[in-house]
Amino acid sequence: MKFWEFDGFGLDRLRFVDRAEPVAAAGQVLVKLSAWSLNFRDLMLVKGQYNPRLRLPFTPLSDGVGVIAGVGAGVTGWKVGQRVAGCFMQGWMEGPASEANGRTALGGVLTGVGAEFVTFDAQGIVAPPEHLTDVEAATLPCAAVTAWHALVTEGHVKAGDTVLIQGTGGVSLFALQIAKMHGARVIGTSSSAAKLARLAVMGAETGVNYKEVPEWGDKVRELTGNTGVDHIIEVGGAGTLPQSFRAVRMGGRISLIGVLSAGKAATINPVPILMKNLCVQGIYVGSRAMFEAMNRAIAATTMKPVVDRVFAFEELPAALAYQESGQHFGKVCLAKK
Ligand SMILES: NC(=O)c1ccc[n+]([C@@H]2O[C@H](COP(=O)([O-])OP(=O)(O)OC[C@H]3O[C@@H](n4cnc5c(N)ncnc54)[C@H](OP(=O)(O)O)[C@@H]3O)[C@@H](O)[C@H]2O)c1
Repeated sequence: MKFWEFDGFGLDRLRFVDRAEPVAAAGQVLVKLSAWSLNFRDLMLVKGQYNPRLRLPFTPLSDGVGVIAGVGAGVTGWKVGQRVAGCFMQGWMEGPASEANGRTALGGVLTGVGAEFVTFDAQGIVAPPEHLTDVEAATLPCAAVTAWHALVTEGHVKAGDTVLIQGTGGVSLFALQIAKMHGARVIGTSSSAAKLARLAVMGAETGVNYKEVPEWGDKVRELTGNTGVDHIIEVGGAGTLPQSFRAVRMGGRISLIGVLSAGKAATINPVPILMKNLCVQGIYVGSRAMFEAMNRAIAATTMKPVVDRVFAFEELPAALAYQESGQHFGKVCLAKK
């Protein structure tokens, strides 16, 4: 079978190589993958920005969907031919995060799924919503579960709340869709007028161009009648947090998810966190129980993930370069063509 690995950091160190198909051991399933999605983390990982001490060679990617091609001894509940998606955290079934759960992240700690055949523990897979194509289903394990964890599991988002999303990448568009699914209002930011127009089509009430309006926090506040938003999906990190402190309401919630503005790190003044009684919570993807709860909601509402572009499995370096360009709106995917 074919698989991807890199033996040094940089997109030019990715190699498309051959090895024997793995076999499902006891308690495992063998899955023949047909679709994958990329996350910003994959780019950081391959470039050596995620874990510079990563043991190489390493196979990247956390998100894959396919059909079960083999079932190991003792596995119950799964059979050959069923369509499944791997869980980002292979060992986080339910309940709160733990250090042990964090050590089971695919494509960062555990070997990634950038291969034609992958073995998973039988407990580390879910059945994605039936109305989704394989590519659409492959967008869910990391970005969608993260947005669900932030807004629903921890944020308890409800009708009438206002949610601020930053940019138009994978996590942010899932947050928009999940917020709308719960009857919340959405305000978006983007570096592009064309992308802001697309956010409006998806139901964002209003948007701010963060390039044209560097003090966008005040603008967002103004757009809420000077109250501030209830939830912020913070994917920018150090460079955007000061504006998020302006944009959020008293007692509001900031889900700290991403580091897109790393490198432009600002000195963070923590005083607004106490003066505004904020809840600032780190979110690291989520559990299988969150994935399953989200899948039920996606199925019930027939929500469709936003897929920007699908590359062939053989084109991983080009797909990562495209993700790095920031041209995308939603998810960049790979498929067997
Ligand atoms: N904690 C977790 O569990 C978790 C899970 C998933 C992702 N993440 C992190 O979340 C972030 C987003 O990941 P992703 O996969 O959704 O990325 P992505 O799809 O590649 O999104 C990139 C988009 O973010 C926007 N952006 C870039 N810099 C920005 C800035 N300074 N302010 C506001 N928006 C900015 C841009 O949107 P426009 O083109 O519209 O400007 C860009 O197109 C990354 O840092 C990633 O590592 C964390």
